[in-house]
Amino acid sequence: MSDKILVSVAWPYANADIHVGNIVGSHLPADIFARYHRLRGDEVLMVSGTDSHGTPVTVRADAEGTTPLLVYERFHKRFLEVFVKLGITYDLFTTTHTENHFKVSQDMFLALLKNGYLYQEKRQLMYSESEKRFLPDRYVEGECYICHFPDARGDQCDNCGNLLEAELLINPRSKIDGTRPVLRETEHYFLDLGKFAPAIEEYLSHGKEFWRPNVLAFTRNIVAELHGRPITRDLDWGIPVPIEGTEGKCLYVWFEAVIGYLSASIEWARNAGTPEAWKKWWYDPAARTYYFIGKDNIPFHTVIWPAQLLGAGKLYGGPNDEALNLPYDVPANEFMNMEGRRISGSRNWGVWGLKYLETYDPDPLRYYLTAQMPETRDSDWNWNDYLRRNNDELVATWGNLVNRILSFTAKNYDSVVPQPGLMDEADTLLLAQIDRAFEPIGTQIGACKFKAALSDVMALAREVNKYVDDKAPWFSIKTDRARTATTLYVALRAIDSLKVLFAPFLPFTGQRLHEMLGYSGDLFGQQIINEYQEATRSHLGLTYDSSTITVKWQPSQLPSGQQFRSVAPLFKKLDDKIVEQERAKLGS
Ligand code: MF3
Ligand code: ZN
Repeated sequence: MSDKILVSVAWPYANADIHVGNIVGSHLPADIFARYHRLRGDEVLMVSGTDSHGTPVTVRADAEGTTPLLVYERFHKRFLEVFVKLGITYDLFTTTHTENHFKVSQDMFLALLKNGYLYQEKRQLMYSESEKRFLPDRYVEGECYICHFPDARGDQCDNCGNLLEAELLINPRSKIDGTRPVLRETEHYFLDLGKFAPAIEEYLSHGKEFWRPNVLAFTRNIVAELHGRPITRDLDWGIPVPIEGTEGKCLYVWFEAVIGYLSASIEWARNAGTPEAWKKWWYDPAARTYYFIGKDNIPFHTVIWPAQLLGAGKLYGGPNDEALNLPYDVPANEFMNMEGRRISGSRNWGVWGLKYLETYDPDPLRYYLTAQMPETRDSDWNWNDYLRRNNDELVATWGNLVNRILSFTAKNYDSVVPQPGLMDEADTLLLAQIDRAFEPIGTQIGACKFKAALSDVMALAREVNKYVDDKAPWFSIKTDRARTATTLYVALRAIDSLKVLFAPFLPFTGQRLHEMLGYSGDLFGQQIINEYQEATRSHLGLTYDSSTITVKWQPSQLPSGQQFRSVAPLFKKLDDKIVEQERAKLGS
């Protein structure tokens, strides 16, 4: 039986290019996970999109003297490019600026209103007298009233991670001109989170022991004191509140962005010509939904989004009257720093995806980031470590194994997989060890333990190298061609299995190796940038076609007699010099 797996990935704000911290935090673990499940034959839907509204985008547009629309379109295109080049295989990567997303968000708002989970309240909010407008949370900065960090944003404190109310900041100042905002009355809709507390407690108390401890602890903490939160804003860039008399007000960006998981699933189904197909993941209680996010996004995914889903009831109707599925797991990552300091766009302290790809290949990035994945604590990008992992592990261990065995076979056996003779104990032990690894390594990936899984695959590659060194085919070829044929056959089978075990992590070199070994067809499917047309707008998005996957998560069946294609190294050795060169670029 194939499982239904929804892979939901945090929607990046359209206000900055994607850097290695974003990639390692959400997009890459999600992609490894999705690829693994596809190889298992599961029904995978992986969705995300550009978070195009909200003040992060308007702040950027103000700073550039341009419009939020132009800012969003520019970054969105660059996101699509980096995902294609890095092999982040979204079934659909769309945007929140589609007609479909507007409609689904407004429908969910109205469902919550109808079901009694919204209320209206007049509030004193931050108003700028110099600018003559209400200041959204992110336009206000000041001292955090919880941890006393001096530069907290009005919506969230970057130091303690708590969600904040801008009006309560100590010594507030406007981000636009530094003036002190005043309080002025305005009316907004509130999501009555307090009403969901028992249901959320209940949700958290059942079988969530497998959640990462930090995610669970953080969530339990905030559930203890849930209260209403405003979900509309005095803003004109965003999704209009679907109620008469609310002109000039939009849905709060976080309220609608999380709805993107649902609206993107609906858009995907419609694009695929099977408009009801999204319900498989959203209404089948056996489907599992995973949310890959960074730790700053935890409250929105473990509390607020579940509340929205619970409160929306049976939006659009499940086939058997089920309720919408709540997040099954939220494997949030911690942060990755850069050479010991926090990644920062304004200080140019970081490595950005598109920039990296101008010089280096995607698989070494995927490898290094997985090896350094901040699964349980913050981690650090270090160029020296990057170099060492590339040269010692990818080139010297895995790449060299592949290269020496394939080249040797090409030279001595006419590029054909040799026919093995009788196997000895070392032969059968090695093959058995690798065959047995599929299950535990798969289990680790399925449990979002990507670092451990990758290091176990690399350990197997070391075992195969040891086997080859022991058998020394370059000596035995002089005296015993039959024995050498068996050694090469065993090594090639092992390599062919490792190709699959490595594939979720190293899809590009995996595909090349697949072809070198003489197979045709895709390890994975094909991904393209598409233009979608809706009645009132068109937009670009990524589409993925998984129908051409030809490989399974299982040990190699490599047939003797198969003819190789031309053999070339999988990885490039990097010069030690790059460490200093790259470090010099930081902060410049
Ligand atoms: N745009 C947000 C960020 O970059 C993440 C939004 S995730 C979503 O932090 F679920 F709300 F879409
Ligand atoms: Zn704080």
